[in-house]
Amino acid sequence: MNYIGSKHSIINFLEESIIDFTNKEGKVFCDIFAGTGVVGKRFKKLGYDIIANDTQFYSFVLNKHYLENNNNLLFSKLKLKGIQDVFIYLNKLNNYQGFIYNNYTSIGTINDKYERNYFTIENAIKIDSMRDQIEKWYKKEYIDKNEYYYLLVCLIEAADKVANTASVYEAFLKNIKKSAQKTIEIKPLEIVINKNTKSKVFIEDSNELIKEIKGDILYLDPPYNSRRYSSNYHILETIAYGDNPIIKGKTGIRKESISSKYNKKNEVAKAFEDLIANAKFKYIFLSYNDEGIMSFKEIEEIMSKYGKYKRYETNHKRYKASKNKEVGKKTTIEYLHALKKE
Ligand SMILES: C[S@@+](CC[C@H](N)C(=O)[O-])C[C@H]1O[C@@H](n2cnc3c(N)ncnc32)[C@H](O)[C@@H]1O
Repeated sequence: MNYIGSKHSIINFLEESIIDFTNKEGKVFCDIFAGTGVVGKRFKKLGYDIIANDTQFYSFVLNKHYLENNNNLLFSKLKLKGIQDVFIYLNKLNNYQGFIYNNYTSIGTINDKYERNYFTIENAIKIDSMRDQIEKWYKKEYIDKNEYYYLLVCLIEAADKVANTASVYEAFLKNIKKSAQKTIEIKPLEIVINKNTKSKVFIEDSNELIKEIKGDILYLDPPYNSRRYSSNYHILETIAYGDNPIIKGKTGIRKESISSKYNKKNEVAKAFEDLIANAKFKYIFLSYNDEGIMSFKEIEEIMSKYGKYKRYETNHKRYKASKNKEVGKKTTIEYLHALKKE
């Protein structure tokens, strides 16, 4: 998924820097702004116990699967012949016109006047049908929680691939782009198995959760600017919940969307310092770039108050919405601020 702030492309830099600073000390790793879960997944593979958290439900679902699932899934209660058949069955469904069809296609909506061209009609019906089927299987106990989250992740990833957007869901494109014209295909995804680890996933505000947990390494990757994840990924949130939310405006964002102190220039520094002060972790790391709403000097000043501070840095390809639109410089400096709390 092309997620704003994803650490996918700098994951090796993060691993090397964190291992360098901690000297491999510690077992419990917390990714408290987890997003797609790519960081927790890497540290699970390395053998750490992971605590992951995010305020968005799609992120909770992704992390439930990638971190808490620690066994192969058998789908043994379904009268299908195994995992491949589950996907063949789901991919054939097109029997339900639900919330996505009614609100995020060009048909014009039943609720308001907007024609939101986020998905082709065919794909919207397929997304609704698969989401509905997964829920029915779960409610009837034909699939367990692990299988449920796994299928939801597969659906979220597949829907994102055929979305008619420049990348995020704050706007849709006028004409259906090539990748969005393809028929959605839900495919089996990786199950990360590491029997030496255990993980727990939360959906809470970071500054509340921090008071309840403790561990060795705390990794912080908050939003860097005012772009809200709840509006940028609102349709993924709705697919994850499978609900019928009240939506508003031309883009159809969920009326009740979460705001974060980390998006607000006048609130972020205090929230950040509270997080550091309340953290019961020996090592704390913060990812931030040179275009974020807190300056690196400000960050250095705050972190240095709590112990030994060091900064790592690397160049990072600038986040861009689509391949064709490139404005300004191509790279940013991605900092990893490190603190050994004393
Ligand atoms: C930069 S992204 C994290 C990206 C992630 N490391 C990855 O590689 O996919 C920041 C995340 O913080 C979450 N977030 C924002 N404010 C939050 C808060 N107060 N508590 C918990 N999560 C929050 C957002 O929903 C978003 O997923």
